[in-house]
Amino acid sequence: MPLFLFTLTSLLPLLPVFLTQITFSFASKTYVVYMGGTSIVDDPDQILRHHQMLTIVHRGSVEQAQASHVCSYKHGFTGFAAKLTQEQAFQMTSNEHSTQLFYAFSSMSYLITYYDERTIGTEMPGVVSVFPNAKRRLHTTHSWDFMGLANDEQMEIPGYSTKNQHNVIIGFIDTGIWPESPSFSDHDMPPVPSRWKGQCQVGEAFNASSCNRKVVGARYYVSGFEAEEDSAKPQKFRSPRDSNGHGSHTASIAAGQYVVDMNFKGLAAGGARGGAPMARIAVYKTCWDSGCYDVDLLSAFDDAIKDGVDVLSLSLGPEAPQGDYFTDAISIGSFHAASRGILVVSSVGNDGNQGSATNLAPWLITVAASSTDRDFTSSIDLGEGANYTGESLSLLDTNAPTTIIPASEAYSGYFTPYQSSYCLESSLNSTKASGKVVVCRHAGSFSESKLAKSKVVKEAGGVGMILIDEADTDVAIPFAIPAAIVGARIGDCILSKPTAYISPAKTVIGRQPAPRVASFSSKGPNSLTPAILKPDVTAPGLNILAAWSPTVGNMDFNILSGTSMACPHVTGVIALIKAVYPLWSPSAIKSALMTTVDPTGRAGNPFDYGAGFLNPTGVLNPGLVYDLEPMDYKEFLCSIGYKEKSLHMITRDNFICNQNFSTASDLNYPSITLPELGGSYSVTRTVTNVGLARSTYRAIVSSPAGVKVTVSPKFLIFNNYGQKISFIVNFKVIAPSKGYVFGSLEWKKGRLRVTSPLVVRAVSAS
Ligand SMILES: *[C@@H]1O[C@H](CO)[C@@H](O)[C@H](O)[C@H]1NC(C)=O
Ligand SMILES: *[C@@H]1O[C@H](CO)[C@@H](O)[C@H](O)[C@H]1NC(C)=O
Ligand SMILES: *[C@@H]1O[C@H](CO)[C@@H](O)[C@H](O)[C@H]1NC(C)=O
Ligand SMILES: *[C@@H]1O[C@H](CO)[C@@H](O)[C@H](O)[C@H]1NC(C)=O
Repeated sequence: MPLFLFTLTSLLPLLPVFLTQITFSFASKTYVVYMGGTSIVDDPDQILRHHQMLTIVHRGSVEQAQASHVCSYKHGFTGFAAKLTQEQAFQMTSNEHSTQLFYAFSSMSYLITYYDERTIGTEMPGVVSVFPNAKRRLHTTHSWDFMGLANDEQMEIPGYSTKNQHNVIIGFIDTGIWPESPSFSDHDMPPVPSRWKGQCQVGEAFNASSCNRKVVGARYYVSGFEAEEDSAKPQKFRSPRDSNGHGSHTASIAAGQYVVDMNFKGLAAGGARGGAPMARIAVYKTCWDSGCYDVDLLSAFDDAIKDGVDVLSLSLGPEAPQGDYFTDAISIGSFHAASRGILVVSSVGNDGNQGSATNLAPWLITVAASSTDRDFTSSIDLGEGANYTGESLSLLDTNAPTTIIPASEAYSGYFTPYQSSYCLESSLNSTKASGKVVVCRHAGSFSESKLAKSKVVKEAGGVGMILIDEADTDVAIPFAIPAAIVGARIGDCILSKPTAYISPAKTVIGRQPAPRVASFSSKGPNSLTPAILKPDVTAPGLNILAAWSPTVGNMDFNILSGTSMACPHVTGVIALIKAVYPLWSPSAIKSALMTTVDPTGRAGNPFDYGAGFLNPTGVLNPGLVYDLEPMDYKEFLCSIGYKEKSLHMITRDNFICNQNFSTASDLNYPSITLPELGGSYSVTRTVTNVGLARSTYRAIVSSPAGVKVTVSPKFLIFNNYGQKISFIVNFKVIAPSKGYVFGSLEWKKGRLRVTSPLVVRAVSAS
């Protein structure tokens, strides 16, 4: 049956009601047509097939088909991007093999399950999903807010040699790199490993000599970006060169060389380096100033898999709530990367609230952001011994005690006092604000810039600002005037005083409690698969000093905050683990990161910090690991409802769903989550001995409130390295709880602890 005879009406009886609400638009948009894994690398027939498929939806026009083709994916997986009308995109999803397909209209994606294949054409075999070229966001908090400071994480691991880190190649999917930064010098680095197949792509202000033994490869991707954004506004540096700063910052956190005199305007001065200073950097510039598009992200994954990176680091993600695993470029790309042994590390997002976590796939390592014990504060002297501190990176001070005015009293023109209290653009009356310290509020929304508020106050003649932010007083900002951020309680106290003197920001070491999860860090539960805990682990992401692109603010280093900065801390530690244990699987490495976390300083719960705070000194001696094979991810997908036929297209094999997992909680994950525990349930987990051959571990359980947890056996006795032992964790509800309750399971051998969080929502007692 020729597919172009296919009509929408023939499908209507099959589809849920929402389809009747859809009106097709005839305007073309760029879509990704994802066609699953590939068994033959660089198969020229694949590209031919992509063109044939496009010719069909263009009713036989080869010219239109070619004109609509944007790019093809052919290394790590297969598929293509093309400009299509909604109707053409819809046609692409139709094929006899799919029992489960996804289709997305504008920003919403729907899951469509076809049970009746008779009316569906056969011309498009292999299409797994079709989705619009969505934009992803870099995970810094207001990046324009930051001009920066310091990170001197000590990542030397006593007792181990990590000198082989020069064999580890880390791919960064980000905004590119500033190769001349001292962080990316190749001083003392041995030749590039011969297995490396990457490229140094030349472009604007970037030539072959921009790469070196440190930056071993660099590519850029712009077609997905240009399909969506105004091309009349040319992007700076059509090349791997970083015009934003974010990419240089993240790469140097993970793998920057030691820099003797790193500082931000004198603050946090000292030597600083990345987690694995001798690891190699491969740059995949995919993100431009306004964000990163799916079409380009998939191209980057496709090339990185071919080039031979060991680890991929992505400090970016989709908007929450995230779409399904196979309509999301990061989930798709990382699935295929993980199945080739590449570890993919990502940031959880900066939305702060419950359930806003993104990058939810179990094959990703998803990182939340914490503080360190270093902080940047200005003191606020209110006279009469009343002295407070507030977060700041401003090096300015009010020369003397200065009269305080609430911004709501300095409203101007059409603005209400309420609007002015947020110090919106031109909302302040300069007659009233001039010469004063203005007290502004921050609503905690993403689109509101704290830095901009200080500029509004400055424009109105204010000489200082106190910013009250109940949501987040953690992030230090390089304000345009003397200023500091305080919480509501201190804010109210300040408002009751006549004058304030604000001092220049200072570096403070030893701030307690530390670490704590930053309030902006996105939280669980996992909105897609509640049985998988996200985030996985937490690393420093607050006020981090690292390399920068001097085109922005004319600085070589900058201080940024965000889960974007936490992610490369984990990436750097992974490079060290890979240097010592090159043969460990991605899930063994992930397990080592998660089960060795620092159990101290915990405020919050596993939805905030996952397994806990990254502990670089413990990761090389985890004792036991929860290992996984790529096969297990397929069983996982079966357990959440994917049909074999769809899985075969994704994985290109004849995998059979064994129904080994009755729920996704059964995946051998280093954390255990039971989102709907009714009565009782038993989970089997298997640990692999990677410590001393002969060792015995004892179970120590801390049961969540209202749930009885027992482990059997209570002792694990190993005789060999690599030996696997399974155990059962029984959960029994004693008293149902309203929300989630938390506990832990620890396998203990002397001072060694293999810790897993237990996360349960008990819906009914047995
Ligand atoms: C490009 O190459 C030349 C020498 O071949 C060099 O002088 C120049 O600085 C290089 N870098 C850039 C960014 O153009
Ligand atoms: C307030 O703190 C500043 C800076 O730490 C200090 O110089 C000042 O003396 C303090 N004032 C009082 C009253 O404690
Ligand atoms: C600003 O405040 C002054 C003094 O209260 C007042 O006379 C003036 O009209 C105000 N201007 C605006 C634009 O609100
Ligand atoms: C799943 O079940 C099959 C058959 O019951 C078994 O052969 C296989 O080893 C199991 N796989 C796992 C990961 O438990």
